[in-house]
Amino acid sequence: MKVTRILSSLVVVALAITACASTTGGGGTSTKKIALLLPETKTARYESKDRPLFEAKVKALCSDCQIIYSNANQDAPTQQSQAEAALTNGAKVLVLDPVDGAAAAAIANKAKQSNVPVISYDRLILNSPNVNYYISFDNAGVGKLQGTALLTALNGKANASVVMINGDPADNNAKLFKAGAHSVLDGKVTIAKEYDTPGWGPDKAQDEMTQALTALGNKVDGVYAANDGTGGGAIAAMKTAGVKPLPPVTGQDAELAAIQRILIGEQYMTVYKAIVPEAEGAAQLAVDLVNGTAVPSSMTAGAVTNNTSKDVPSVLLKPVAVMKDNVKTTVVADKFWTAADICTAQYAAACTAAGIS
Ligand code: BGC
Repeated sequence: MKVTRILSSLVVVALAITACASTTGGGGTSTKKIALLLPETKTARYESKDRPLFEAKVKALCSDCQIIYSNANQDAPTQQSQAEAALTNGAKVLVLDPVDGAAAAAIANKAKQSNVPVISYDRLILNSPNVNYYISFDNAGVGKLQGTALLTALNGKANASVVMINGDPADNNAKLFKAGAHSVLDGKVTIAKEYDTPGWGPDKAQDEMTQALTALGNKVDGVYAANDGTGGGAIAAMKTAGVKPLPPVTGQDAELAAIQRILIGEQYMTVYKAIVPEAEGAAQLAVDLVNGTAVPSSMTAGAVTNNTSKDVPSVLLKPVAVMKDNVKTTVVADKFWTAADICTAQYAAACTAAGIS
């Protein structure tokens, strides 16, 4: 009786452990195991785009490959254990989107001990010579697009008061977005309040915006939000505080909710980063590495990114600013979202006005 109880609680524990990591394709015996380690779940892209696109492309390119998937829920020690578990389970390539770029050096160094190559996915792994490839976007360019769009929306308004809601400082991308935005905004507007947002949490961004509104007596002319999640948090805070009309708010990721907010005029812009070539490019690199096939030089075309220890061969894709008037020619034309996805009852009129059907 006692033994059965102990056994069944062991089963429960085992199930709980496997719930955080999953494997797909090829069966447990594959020798071609690729680990995909994503950083968080509060931002929609990872589970709705990156993961399914990556998995589908790996399966299409390599029927006997197996994927070990984990999401770290924005916790660096969790990501470290997930990476170690993947290596123990026989992963032959790590595709790592680091929660903390500096802390992830330890993961890359550990992988090297087992001769496992590492692809730095979307966010750069810093301070390690053991990063084989980096695939991402021009991230300072993302910040510049956001800053430039905000200036356009402010239309030369004198002494415009801007609140900046940046991303997580442990994410190298957040630093680049912030620097890119500052390079455009500084000297042109007054940065009245500025925050770094731990973990990129939309809830944290909402708190930050609430604080800013209290301090500024609701006088805000524009909001720089680093991504759509934080932008959504800032908009929620302004609605609660009764700010009307809403000032222009930036974003990034072309999340479905953000595209809908843009069409009804609640958010000014987002940055569309085509996740299809990013995820599929990473899959292509991972399959070449797992098969021991040489990666074609056309993949990086000589591009590198310095991570303080190495010039990492890089694939850097181009971000695109999306406003109400080009939703149709960008995310809809690319089938990133279909008209059916966007134009639910609440947004039908706005879709018609934007020529989306
Ligand atoms: C990614 C963004 C994402 C953010 C929060 C950044 O590193 O580039 O697309 O919104 O992390 O997860």
